Amino acid sequence: MDRQKSISIELRNISKSFGQIKANQHVNLSIYRGEILALLGENGSGKTTLMNMVAGIYYPDEGEILIEGKPVTIASPKDAFRHHIGMIHQHFKLIDVFTSLENIVLGLKDRPSTARAAVEKIRDKYGFVLDLDKRVYEMSVSEKQTLEIIKAVYRGANLLILDEPTAVLTPIEVEKLFTILRNMAKDGKSIIIITHKLNEVMEISDRVAVLRKGEYIGSIETKKTNENELTEMMVGEKIELNIERDTPENPQDRLIVKGISCKNADGHSILHKVSFTARSGEILGIAGISGSGQKEILESIAGLVKDDHGSITYINPKNGEVVNLRDKTPAQIRSLGVRLAFVPEDRLGMGLVGNMDLIDNMMLRSYRKGKGMFLNRKKPRDLADKVVRELHVATPSIHTSVRKLSGGNVQKVLVGREIASGPKVLMVAYPTRGLDINSSYMIYHLLNEQKKKGTAVIYVGEDLDVLIALSDRVAVIGDGEVRGIVDARKTNKNEIGLLMTKKNDKEEKKNA
Ligand SMILES: Nc1ncnc2c1ncn2[C@@H]1O[C@H](COP(=O)(O)OP(=O)(O)O)[C@@H](O)[C@H]1O
Ligand SMILES: [Mg+2]
Repeated sequence: MDRQKSISIELRNISKSFGQIKANQHVNLSIYRGEILALLGENGSGKTTLMNMVAGIYYPDEGEILIEGKPVTIASPKDAFRHHIGMIHQHFKLIDVFTSLENIVLGLKDRPSTARAAVEKIRDKYGFVLDLDKRVYEMSVSEKQTLEIIKAVYRGANLLILDEPTAVLTPIEVEKLFTILRNMAKDGKSIIIITHKLNEVMEISDRVAVLRKGEYIGSIETKKTNENELTEMMVGEKIELNIERDTPENPQDRLIVKGISCKNADGHSILHKVSFTARSGEILGIAGISGSGQKEILESIAGLVKDDHGSITYINPKNGEVVNLRDKTPAQIRSLGVRLAFVPEDRLGMGLVGNMDLIDNMMLRSYRKGKGMFLNRKKPRDLADKVVRELHVATPSIHTSVRKLSGGNVQKVLVGREIASGPKVLMVAYPTRGLDINSSYMIYHLLNEQKKKGTAVIYVGEDLDVLIALSDRVAVIGDGEVRGIVDARKTNKNEIGLLMTKKNDKEEKKNA
């Protein structure tokens, strides 16, 4: 590295506990000027806590923070800014009714009019795109994030900490953010990006520091490591990073979606002539920028959205009966003997009831099935036990309200319940969002098991690496249209990325 290796900030022996929980233990970490450091660790490994101490949100129980070799006290975000440290939190701290510019100067002596030129300079220098007069409530998540970063830089941040910034972005927005971060690093700023995604670490960072269970495991230059080694550092054991994928056995058409279209409440077209077939024993991936119609496709099939055109048919594997699903309610669909399971994106809104315990949430589905299968709580209790045991759900008991579980555990409960229903078509939307590596691989494994049992799996995902590795075919959607259906074994991220973003004049369907 020809980059100046002067230390910007050094953390020495930092520890922080919350009651019994040791969130950070004796962490030593340096950040150099002009580098992009990835702070990597599984959920709960202490990344946010550590950075919150650098940003003045928490104060360490022990240890010290040095800047340019001198110990400093950072007891508030104001202190942090005085030392040129700015942090972009996962939950943005913006005032909705204010414009970009008003948010940027909020609490400062500067007036918006006098700050404008300086803000524009920062914006253009690093390649941000932002309308300074737009109000926050009109902004996309990505715009809000951009605003937070510009705000931090305007306030003098030379060390910028971003907490899981890509979690809320589309792949294209991620690329834009990374370009900006590189520009800032070239300009001498230090950047810490918190993440648990290995491909991002490999792509953006110069160096990576790993936390595991609150302890600092080590740091390594990114170009000298690889995803397998980093995983081992992260979880403390070797785990197989290859997603299994068997050849589908005797795939049969199970669900045929033909030319469906629908509009939203404002009359805007959401889905436009969407067609695809899900086959038994196959995983059909659905790729696309989030909000391109994924939700409506799944909800159309599940009977939750009314379509204006087209047909949705289910072929019953028992007797070959062709069942029309269009314009049916979920209850009607079930009464027709259609074995459809759905893990929606909105877990607690549609999938589970937060203030019910695990047992009742297991019953919920059985009742919905309209079979009155469980007359007492024994079966749902057994099922709850089984889901907790087999999916390693962290919960005090099966009598705990689902609301009290962490996001990852909520997801496991929902996936476990849906799979337990023995579906013939299983639709899952972003099932590993927020899950750590081990839990994510457990979910991939469960989906593969379903595939082996002959279920037609429809997997809506955002991580293209996973979509390509796990799926047999990938349907790429954009703006409510199917842009192409490709053979997952023959495609690559580039091809899918292009299909996602490019508008095709003709229906250019590469049916695999
Ligand atoms: N304010 C808090 N009160 C109690 N426990 C907390 C608090 N913040 C974090 N923790 C706990 O500290 C540990 C580390 O959390 P965190 O720093 O958020 O991890 P990460 O950002 O790596 O996911 C977790 O066990 C978490 O539950
Ligand atoms: Mg965190």
